[in-house]
Amino acid sequence: MYNPFILSFKQGISVIEESSDRVIVQSPQVDLNIPEYTINIEPVSPGFLAALKLLATEGATEENLSELVLQTDSFSELPNLYYYLEKFINLGFVCHTVLAEELPMATLVPLGKYDKFQIKEATTDKKYVLSRFAYCRKNKEKLVLESPLSHSQLILVDLQSAALIAELSQPRDCREIYNKIPSLSEDTIKNLFSLLLSDEMLLAVEEDGTIAEETNETLVQWEFHDLLFHSRTRTGRHSNPVGRTYPFLGKIERLPAIKPKVSNDIINLYKPDIEKLKESDYPFSLILEDRKSIKQFNDANPITDKQIGEFLYRTARVKKVMEKGPEEISNRPYPNGGANYELELYLAVNICENIPDGFYHYCPQDHQLCKISDRTKNVDQLLEEIWITNRQHHTPQVLIIMAARFARINWQYESIAYAAILKNVGILLQTMYLVATAMNLGSCAIAQGNADLFALTAKTDYYAETSVGEFILGTK
Ligand SMILES: Cc1cc2nc3c(=O)[nH]c(=O)nc-3n(C[C@H](O)[C@H](O)[C@H](O)COP(=O)(O)O)c2cc1C
Repeated sequence: MYNPFILSFKQGISVIEESSDRVIVQSPQVDLNIPEYTINIEPVSPGFLAALKLLATEGATEENLSELVLQTDSFSELPNLYYYLEKFINLGFVCHTVLAEELPMATLVPLGKYDKFQIKEATTDKKYVLSRFAYCRKNKEKLVLESPLSHSQLILVDLQSAALIAELSQPRDCREIYNKIPSLSEDTIKNLFSLLLSDEMLLAVEEDGTIAEETNETLVQWEFHDLLFHSRTRTGRHSNPVGRTYPFLGKIERLPAIKPKVSNDIINLYKPDIEKLKESDYPFSLILEDRKSIKQFNDANPITDKQIGEFLYRTARVKKVMEKGPEEISNRPYPNGGANYELELYLAVNICENIPDGFYHYCPQDHQLCKISDRTKNVDQLLEEIWITNRQHHTPQVLIIMAARFARINWQYESIAYAAILKNVGILLQTMYLVATAMNLGSCAIAQGNADLFALTAKTDYYAETSVGEFILGTK
């Protein structure tokens, strides 16, 4: 069997000697979603115990481990070693290290469980190229190679491994790499190729020049950033903490549930009588069935301040602010993951009866519009860009921009924070569609918006609060 790598337990895996013939191998608990995993080995032979200890310290090749078991125990213990080694590897407990001149050159560290990890042996007569999904980044003072296709991370321990990865942006065989980096032996290069090949970071180039990743019709349609976002915001392909873990509790002040008013230039908005609306509204099924996207508006008879007031009150006002554990949360008409209500509403007003055109922030607690600016060039550009997205139609009467105060979510969630924001945008969009239908207004969600231009116009810090969704509103 081909396995020239140094095998070692990854950081956090512990070997606990419970008694002279019982040992426990245990992974740490990452969070509530990823509990510890325990393997009970009983009886454990002295040779196998020594092999486990070696895996937990400096590591050894499969060959060295079998020799150790053979020397200390009998031949009959070997299947046990191989059984558990395979189990540990598939559970994502084991790192594979490639050595160059006896020193570690690169280490493949599992990020989660594998379906079935198998070393794919590279050959010297073939060319290989890096997957377009593979990328390098700095992680805890180390340079790592990762890919959303992979269940592992390759730590590039020395300069030569980083140089080799750079070379693999183009198809290369072992000899070509050796000619460029002669300090590495062809065997070492081949071993590193095999490791990269085994976890989908490297691809074989076929004789006719084709690469599997590029002929696969499913994969070819994925953009790099989308697949990375998908793989890191869902569980399964990584073992990062997930969900409400409060990574910044006690380190950074939480943001208040309600954003402080952005100006003293205030318009008090009309409040509808919700109890009366419950009596007089169209039936729910009629609203649901009649809802449709409307992109042409009746500018001769534009939306009014009263309609804006009713629309915002019915979709986005604050009903209540509460303390819950370390959080300050609120209650509004639409649901929101974690009740953080990170979405702020901004209005770029083009034409509205009794509200001057310009740019406003909606204060959902006091149900007011706070003016940020008149109709500046930036406001015009925000409206114009929506018109461009919507080219066959015309400039909306009112553009509602949803901006996220990111820290409202980032402060308490890990792995899923941005995905949660986008889900919340979807929920608010549908609530707005339904309320607009109930009010006989025309409305439409918009697929894209300029977050840089928004931050400039709203005078926010792009990284703290910027646009994540858009909705247009007007009279039919
Ligand atoms: C998230 C989202 C983004 C949308 N973006 C746009 C857009 O940028 N331009 C547009 O004309 N329509 C946009 N729409 C409207 C869809 O085209 C519309 O919902 C779809 O054609 C179904 O039609 P209906 O809403 O009338 O049922 C969007 C809808 C959603 C839900």
